[in-house]
Amino acid sequence: MGEFKDKIAVVTGTTGIGKAVTLNLARSGARVFALGIDVKANKALQELSTSEGLEVLVLDTDAANPEAVRTAFEKAAGLVGGIDIIVNAAAVHPYGDATETSFDAFMRCMAVNVGSIHLTAQFGVPEMRKRGGGVIINLSSVQGHACQSGVSAYVASKGAIHSMTRAMALDFAADRIRVVCVSPGSVRTPILELAARTFEGQDADIDAVFSRFGAAHPLGRIGEPEEVADLVAFLASEKAAFITGSDHRIDGGLTAGIGVR
Ligand SMILES: NC(=O)c1ccc[n+]([C@@H]2O[C@H](COP(=O)([O-])OP(=O)(O)OC[C@H]3O[C@@H](n4cnc5c(N)ncnc54)[C@H](O)[C@@H]3O)[C@@H](O)[C@H]2O)c1
Repeated sequence: MGEFKDKIAVVTGTTGIGKAVTLNLARSGARVFALGIDVKANKALQELSTSEGLEVLVLDTDAANPEAVRTAFEKAAGLVGGIDIIVNAAAVHPYGDATETSFDAFMRCMAVNVGSIHLTAQFGVPEMRKRGGGVIINLSSVQGHACQSGVSAYVASKGAIHSMTRAMALDFAADRIRVVCVSPGSVRTPILELAARTFEGQDADIDAVFSRFGAAHPLGRIGEPEEVADLVAFLASEKAAFITGSDHRIDGGLTAGIGVR
């Protein structure tokens, strides 16, 4: 039935990479609770999963709201008794430098991108301890390593995810809970479409802009959410049993070079 048979997973984010991860884990036998704030996307993911006969329950949840996350974990843990895998893929991406980004937008970015990882650990780690261990996988970004201009709130959150991943790996190693992060380059998802429209206008030819973004990557293309989901699945599996505290880039070589042509 698949390598994640009998495993219980919680995934935040119900489009793009979160959606691909949910489907990947569920197709390999996991029971997945998917938490998302986008009610329309949640419904679509629930319908797709149900039509495939997958064990997926999508819960309308603001992952930056402590009570909402507590309720979602109580529901998940109450139904199945413990959690094995958490994948944090919820994020927002404000654009602008410090003079252009309101403090509210900055704090919301930190609350969603970083705070949600704190909350899923707060409520999820006790459930993992009941199962004798687990794995937490945090979606960061190459922009936590090096960045473009006009994205200071987003990259602050992504750098924080790298640091928090290391800290949680140390904090929970004795519980046999591994904590890693994944740093993608450009990947074909709604957040990249937002980037395309921000830089090129609302009527931008998205395929053409994605081709241009892809040309900046040495492999000559952007990534697909399913490719990131495959890496996440590997990191969640027993094959990665000795991996913790580390960041895993999946960026088509983007950060290998120094941008000189
Ligand atoms: N696509 C890329 O090019 C790229 C590159 C580097 C890193 N990433 C990271 O990958 C992760 C997944 O992003 P994606 O590419 O799938 O984009 P996406 O926009 O499809 O996914 C983000 C998801 O987070 C959800 N979300 C936002 N606020 C939320 C909240 N408060 N509570 C619950 N859900 C919330 C959105 O509804 C959406 O489903 C993010 O951490 C993103 O920063 C993406």
